Amino acid sequence: MSPSLITVSYLASAALFILALGGLSNNDTARRGNMFGIVGMIIALLITIGAFVSGNYTVLVFIMVVGGLIGFVLSRRVQMTQMPELVAILHSLVGLAAVLIGFANFMDPSISYTGVEKTIHEIEVYIGICIGALTFTGSVVAYGKLSGMIGGQPMMLPARHWLNLAMFIAVVVIAVKFVGAEHEQALLLLLAMTVIALLFGIHMVAAIGGADMPVVISMLNSYSGWAAAATGFMLSNDLLIVTGALVGSSGAILSYIMCRAMNRHFISVIAGGFGTSSGSSAGAAIEGEVQTIDPQALAQLLNKAKEVMVVPGYGMATAQAQHAIADITKTLIKKGVNVRFGIHPVAGRMPGHMNVLLAEAKVPYDIVFEMDEINDDFPDVDVSIVVGANDTVNPLAQEDAESPIAGMPVLEVWKGNTTVVLKRGMAAGYAGVDNPLFVKENTRMLFGDARDSLEALAQAL
Ligand code: TAP
Repeated sequence: MSPSLITVSYLASAALFILALGGLSNNDTARRGNMFGIVGMIIALLITIGAFVSGNYTVLVFIMVVGGLIGFVLSRRVQMTQMPELVAILHSLVGLAAVLIGFANFMDPSISYTGVEKTIHEIEVYIGICIGALTFTGSVVAYGKLSGMIGGQPMMLPARHWLNLAMFIAVVVIAVKFVGAEHEQALLLLLAMTVIALLFGIHMVAAIGGADMPVVISMLNSYSGWAAAATGFMLSNDLLIVTGALVGSSGAILSYIMCRAMNRHFISVIAGGFGTSSGSSAGAAIEGEVQTIDPQALAQLLNKAKEVMVVPGYGMATAQAQHAIADITKTLIKKGVNVRFGIHPVAGRMPGHMNVLLAEAKVPYDIVFEMDEINDDFPDVDVSIVVGANDTVNPLAQEDAESPIAGMPVLEVWKGNTTVVLKRGMAAGYAGVDNPLFVKENTRMLFGDARDSLEALAQAL
């Protein structure tokens, strides 16, 4: 294949990936963005295979078919609520691929550089394997935490910051010895660094508290991009470098946005410790009386309301209650009620989780607002309907400086006239913190599966 065709195709792919990212930043254009990404990826695959693969086609086709089938079946089966776990485990595969390619590349006898080129190549291999290894184990632990296989509580080893520092210094020292070492000794050093990076990935994510997981997920997303970019340098593949850099930098920007949403400093989250500080509030029982409401009484309240705010959370996703709330919204709007949705930036289990569900249920975009846009409006709201949200509406974030979620901005639903919370029981949210909202004077609890409750409400309305 001619080098210019490869270059042009790679440029086209890179442009399509950029258009994909641009498209994905907006609900209206997300579908088109996805399409650009798919076309870009097909071009990238075909050209890479055509240009660089010169044999072993049977193995290649076999592996692509098996991998493609697994991906296809997984994506058909995965529930919307399991998407974050799927994303985490896919990041782990990017990390693992970077490690395996790094070792294969290092041991490939046909690659022989000398002088500065050799040093640069060794550094590329070292960095690629290092980022890949910590992305791999970090993502596996994140998968465990998100799927509930590992508890959400942070693992607090004594002197954990010193441990992190010691691992970092060890990786740097080994790097210095690695560059220019004899092949066999270099391989041992590479293996030693890989073990440390694998342990570092486990420790880093295990030490992060429940409520800070959004930052970790976007950070691992970013790492997987940098791991791919490093692999691109190893293989001298320009498109992989560009694509990795796009994923790496967009993940880094997302991490920044998540940190701002959680009112956290990036470094503090990475170092662990948030979501962990005291634990006292998490364990403290909330005092006060719970007042319940049934769907009929809620329907009467809504019939009298002029301003209604719906605040969805993770429970809406598990209950698949988005269609029921969309129907109720339609009914209320027909009755002349001003219905709006208030979305917390980390509601659910992945960025944009609520927006995706509401879009699926065809809730008009123009009544869906970000937290910052509507948080000051709660005093004018007659009824707030909290559908399976918990941490994101927890007043303790403002009231208790010792709380694991202290400082995280929350939707101030309690400032409205009446708040109705739909959930099954009094269980805590993802961060494991009790919620005094449930016993506030103007709060009513509608217990039960959110979808069942909303369907009963729709009937009553
Ligand atoms: P959460 O605090 O996770 O609370 C969800 C609530 O939904 C639970 O308290 C649960 O109470 C209720 N629920 C579960 N299934 C239900 C059902 N079928 N029907 C009705 N209610 C149901 O939700 P949130 O307010 O959306 O907060 C999100 C949390 O996840 C934050 O702590 C955030 O930091 C974290 N997180 C977010 C992300 C991203 S990127 N968004 C990623 C990882 C972690 P019951 O069991 O009593 O019903």
